[in-house]
Amino acid sequence: MQEPLPDGGTIRKLWIGETDAYRDHLLRLDRESRYRRFSGTLADEVIARHAATANGLGVVVHGFFVDGVLRGAAELRQNGSLFSHQAEAAFSIEQPWQSHGVGTGLLERTLLSARNRGIKSLRMDCLADNQRMQQLARKFDAEFSFDFGSVTGEVDPPRSTLLSLTREAIADNYGLASAIFEVQSRLLRPA
Ligand SMILES: CC(C)(COP(=O)(O)OP(=O)(O)OC[C@H]1O[C@@H](n2cnc3c(N)ncnc32)[C@H](O)[C@@H]1OP(=O)(O)O)[C@@H](O)C(=O)NCCC(=O)NCCS
Repeated sequence: MQEPLPDGGTIRKLWIGETDAYRDHLLRLDRESRYRRFSGTLADEVIARHAATANGLGVVVHGFFVDGVLRGAAELRQNGSLFSHQAEAAFSIEQPWQSHGVGTGLLERTLLSARNRGIKSLRMDCLADNQRMQQLARKFDAEFSFDFGSVTGEVDPPRSTLLSLTREAIADNYGLASAIFEVQSRLLRPA
């Protein structure tokens, strides 16, 4: 069973129109997390341009939301065409929410989406000293094969099944319902 997420947060896919929230989240990352997320130093404008492509075809971003604010994200990006069997994944969690199981939840959902899109090889670039990312990926080593000598994880999720497609659809519906509930609760909260 999945551990509860910190601060009552929820994980759901980002919707079209939420790229600004993604940009703001990426720009809020502390210096080290930002460096690790992009495997180097990037200017704010480059990050903003990157976030703007998050609603493109072949891109799925799962977000971790607390009180309606995006605090963590997992980006799955198919390489080349929509029919490509290869993709890359990258993770970003704001510092106060790191090491609380959010990365685990996001990777679980990303793997499900990858499997349902027929992706056979999923690459996650991370710096050689990024212990936490490597530990996170190792938690799923039944589904992955890793070569951390070259600091790249190659993943072969099994094929989609009716069950895996249903699991993703249920998660999407749950995400929608909890987002609606969240907005309503905020409207009802005394100022
Ligand atoms: C790397 C990152 C995605 C991991 O997500 P997270 O939510 O912090 O990780 P989790 O809490 O799910 O922990 C995953 C595993 O990492 C290990 N771990 C957790 N905290 C750790 C720490 N401080 N040091 C070393 N290992 C740690 C544990 O094995 C843990 O599994 P367990 O709790 O079941 O034992 C997140 O910390 C992050 O966004 N970092 C900055 C950006 C980055 O490095 N991105 C990766 C490159 S794309």
